[in-house]
Amino acid sequence: MSRIAAPRGTQDVLPADSPRWHAVENIARQVAAIYHFAEIRTPIYELSDLFHRGVGQSTDIVQKETFTFRPRPESESITLRPEGTAGVVRAAIENNLLAQEGARLKVYYLGPNFRYERPQKGRLRQHHQFGVESFGSPLPQADVECILLQMEFYRRCGVKDLSLQINSLGDTQSKARYRQVLLDFLGPRKASLSEDSQRRLDENPLRVLDSKDPRDQEACAAAPPALESLSPKSREHFERVQELLTTSAANFVVNPRLVRGFDYYTDTLWEVVAGGLGAQNALGGGGRYDNLVEELGGRPTPGVGFGSGIERLLLALEAQQVTLNTAASPLLWLVYHGPVAQAACWELLGQLRAANIACDMDYSGRSVKAQFKLADREKASRCIIIGDAELASGTILLKDLATGQQQSLPRRQLPGVLLEPAVPAQ
Ligand code: HAM
Repeated sequence: MSRIAAPRGTQDVLPADSPRWHAVENIARQVAAIYHFAEIRTPIYELSDLFHRGVGQSTDIVQKETFTFRPRPESESITLRPEGTAGVVRAAIENNLLAQEGARLKVYYLGPNFRYERPQKGRLRQHHQFGVESFGSPLPQADVECILLQMEFYRRCGVKDLSLQINSLGDTQSKARYRQVLLDFLGPRKASLSEDSQRRLDENPLRVLDSKDPRDQEACAAAPPALESLSPKSREHFERVQELLTTSAANFVVNPRLVRGFDYYTDTLWEVVAGGLGAQNALGGGGRYDNLVEELGGRPTPGVGFGSGIERLLLALEAQQVTLNTAASPLLWLVYHGPVAQAACWELLGQLRAANIACDMDYSGRSVKAQFKLADREKASRCIIIGDAELASGTILLKDLATGQQQSLPRRQLPGVLLEPAVPAQ
């Protein structure tokens, strides 16, 4: 029979990889808890309209990259989530988490997202994000809290060579003004733009700045930056963000070209890039979205957050040769000599597991030598050995696989004796 391969752009996390995923996920959860963000889990698919309105009709994500389908001819169109923010906003509104005046909500999520992109290193069709969303505060402290949380996440993971880039698109009026500035600037250059960007220009000229096409980049090189169109209020907000970052000793650069591919952003935008990643070097990015809750039917509530790709983070750590702390609980291996001892080991296995001791054994009648080999391959730290002599005397042999030291212990002392801290050898 022919084999079936995984779909293009997806990745298995194999048993050998999962400790690194756990390490990163544990750090994400710890940092989120320290910053007082609670976990939220939303469905991996939503009604397609949510992303049309949430992410934006004119974005590449919605126009080209969604997995959208009707499960049955009569069903409503659904879309696998391409990102986390829209679903979180939908859930917050639907569950009345933002219904009270002055409501405050700080949530984080970890999970898969789906974008039909051309797969390459660091770009997948299913990728995973750690993200946070903070609702209720229009103040620059909320933006900076998210940025600091994100940087702390990377710091604890051990990523080096990070660059935090920030920019501001301003509030609704600033964005509208900038849109006109861009139209005036790019209009006369329309013919030199890529076909995609000629279309984008009419729909949303901001998207042209985001284009990777060299023709568009050249045309945009001298475009006026968004910062010049900021309203006084937005300018003040952005300055305060920079001050707060400076007092928190967070290094950053203002990148006036930073736009990011979502329609929902207002005011602050940021992206963190890391060395060693090549073309797909954005580890994560975020921004403020003060109109999104209202646009999705909630009461007007400011919001800000970020998303950070887990696969890219792991790639960066690998490229930078950083090893994550993946200390798993030590494994105890049970080795038997003969069928009666095998049954005794099986019984003991249950007792040890009930006492929270990670342990395993062979069931298939391997030789003692092969059982030791297996214990070695599975990276066990200790073995319990039971043979005829141990059966007769009601003991077990406990062997430390690193030092080779072994001792005989009465069976009735188990599991208690294994839970006591080891006494250092005199
Ligand atoms: P984003 O910049 O599209 O933002 O994605 C966040 C991060 O997810 C990226 O920086 C990257 O690390 C990772 N990522 C995105 N697409 C892929 C892909 N195809 N393959 C691998 N990794 C990928 C958002 O998704 C926003 N929702 C962030 C946000 C939250 N803004 C406000 N709140």
